[in-house]
Amino acid sequence: MIPGTFLSRRMLLRYLAGSPLLAALTWTDIWPVDLGSQEGPELFPSALSDLEGTIDGLIASADKAINVFDFASVAKKKLPPAHYGYLATGVEDDRTLRANREAFSRINLRPRRLVDVSRIDRTTDLLGVDHSSPIILAPVGSQKGFHPEGEIAVANAARTQRHLQILSTVSTSSVAEVAAARGEPVWYQLYPTSQWDIARALLQRAADAGSPVVVLTVDLPTSSNRETEKRLKKMDSRDCTACHAPGIQGYLERKPMFEGLDISRLNGLLAPAMTWEFVDRLKEATSMKVVLKGIVTREDALLSLKHGVDGLIVSNHGGRAEESGRATMESLPEVVESVQGKIPVLVDGGFRRGSDVFKALAMGASAVCIGRPYLWGLAAFGQPGVEMVLKILRAELRDVMMFSGTPSLGDIRRSHVGMA
Ligand SMILES: Cc1cc2nc3c(=O)[nH]c(=O)nc-3n(C[C@H](O)[C@H](O)[C@H](O)COP(=O)(O)O)c2cc1C
Repeated sequence: MIPGTFLSRRMLLRYLAGSPLLAALTWTDIWPVDLGSQEGPELFPSALSDLEGTIDGLIASADKAINVFDFASVAKKKLPPAHYGYLATGVEDDRTLRANREAFSRINLRPRRLVDVSRIDRTTDLLGVDHSSPIILAPVGSQKGFHPEGEIAVANAARTQRHLQILSTVSTSSVAEVAAARGEPVWYQLYPTSQWDIARALLQRAADAGSPVVVLTVDLPTSSNRETEKRLKKMDSRDCTACHAPGIQGYLERKPMFEGLDISRLNGLLAPAMTWEFVDRLKEATSMKVVLKGIVTREDALLSLKHGVDGLIVSNHGGRAEESGRATMESLPEVVESVQGKIPVLVDGGFRRGSDVFKALAMGASAVCIGRPYLWGLAAFGQPGVEMVLKILRAELRDVMMFSGTPSLGDIRRSHVGMA
């Protein structure tokens, strides 16, 4: 049971009369579930319920947030259970999901003193392009399931906050629309399917929208066992088929990147037969840079170099692929060591604090991607929510850089962190 869920409903409704939030709170009463995978502080502490600007301990607008977890509570309350389940789920016992977070508590900071930190520079070069922040929006599918403006709200936030965005193959807006809203091309994440014609058409659409980089996701050879999602779906009383027609064709009909493509022969989105030969083929077929997402071992990092890959994202899909139990922060060192600075290594999974970002940079990452935090912001308040999540993370990163005596990202070294 979510503590406090039923406590003050009448008070809440009185308080909310006339508020735009009212319409979004309709799931509150039908969703008394205790989620093992719930992140952040416990929801609705009763002592906070009367605080100005909060509703039952929830923030009422993006500017009231103190940290990114404040958005998680609102997202959880606003989203229908099935959609929240899609966002929150890990696999099986959610062990890998938790491992991603827990790894940060085993890494400490080793701050240096008496360094001029009056000016902080967070710009970073990635594949020959300067980016104003090392915090990147990871590819996430079906964002209109979190907010009616979906990927466009995220692109608008990425534009105003100047962050790089990676668009998912299974987005609910096309890459052309997203690039237009972002004001510059975005990186394009590819699920190639098992049909080369489809992969080629998707690539062409991304290239036409100016995408300089294709991110090939390699960690889902099959669908994973997302139990939290399954459980929450069962609690959702709506008729899902009113929005999603059943089967892969029904699913892809709602994905603009597949519009006009012949998907009749597809039996799934995933490509269980994909091997390194596919990477070679992709390299040959496109002039975009090729980044692999989902590499977690030194062996595959070395093969990536051998196959001419341009960059890597150390990722376990946010704990949504195999239940390895291994945090991406545990995988990062061996991947960084293997590539020896020849290509950039990005990492994602459980980044919720500026200090998490700092720790990854200290351990050799070139940049960090975030998934759920910006989805919480999106689900809670749309574009302003995503903007605030990015502002908070940037401010936290700035602070930890100041405390650590590292005025620029290039100053952050392995010696700035230690193991607990
Ligand atoms: C709801 C959801 C949908 C996702 N969809 C995709 C996707 O379409 N393609 C992809 O490569 N990764 C996808 N991911 C994984 C993210 O790109 C990223 O690896 C992960 O969210 C990082 O972990 P974090 O959520 O703990 O920050 C998805 C993640 C979530 C939470």
